[in-house]
Amino acid sequence: MSEPILVMGICGSYDLDSANGRLLEMFMEHCEALGAKTVVWDHGAKPLPLVGAEGSWDDETVKEFQEKATSADAFVLSSPEYHGTMSGVMKNSLDWLYSKHTSGKVFSLMSTLGGKTSNNTLNHMRIAARWIHGWVIPEQIAVPNVKSAFDDDGELVSEELRERMVAMAKSLVEGTQKLRG
Ligand SMILES: Cc1cc2nc3c(=O)[nH]c(=O)nc-3n(C[C@H](O)[C@H](O)[C@H](O)COP(=O)(O)O)c2cc1C
Repeated sequence: MSEPILVMGICGSYDLDSANGRLLEMFMEHCEALGAKTVVWDHGAKPLPLVGAEGSWDDETVKEFQEKATSADAFVLSSPEYHGTMSGVMKNSLDWLYSKHTSGKVFSLMSTLGGKTSNNTLNHMRIAARWIHGWVIPEQIAVPNVKSAFDDDGELVSEELRERMVAMAKSLVEGTQKLRG
């Protein structure tokens, strides 16, 4: 039997104790149920410097982040929408990745919004993933009205979104296995 694939989660919120951190936790549970291994980068514990800041090119945390990305077979990006696009935390994380870390790997996308649903952040992350030669799956999730999107147990209230997440995890894991051959 082949090695399980490794899915790396990148959160666009600094703190994993956030809506996007929770989405990643749920999504990874689905991936693990399909036999994948998972890891989520924790910006709170290991913040990445801004690209180009003094000393950033030799930063040990950046190297660790890039090595983790190199070892991953697939990615899930989850970002809050800020002013109609991905957060600065997400953009800076993606700016630390180049095609040598991500080329030919499969990406999936999630986003949360304080207001109405929108595909802006998803589309912008899709463009960035394309620029680092990622294969982005068509399934994607936008969670609108985020303050009322989770119940007291931290589950998504919307059954449709819960089902979309299961389908997205299946597509990511199976798509990655197919590409790996
Ligand atoms: C600087 C800033 C800009 C925001 N811009 C938008 C926006 O353009 N559209 C929107 O629906 N919500 C906007 N919000 C609300 C966030 O999307 C919301 O707080 C976030 O999705 C919650 O996710 P989190 O718990 O992972 O931080 C904004 C919030 C902040 C702090």
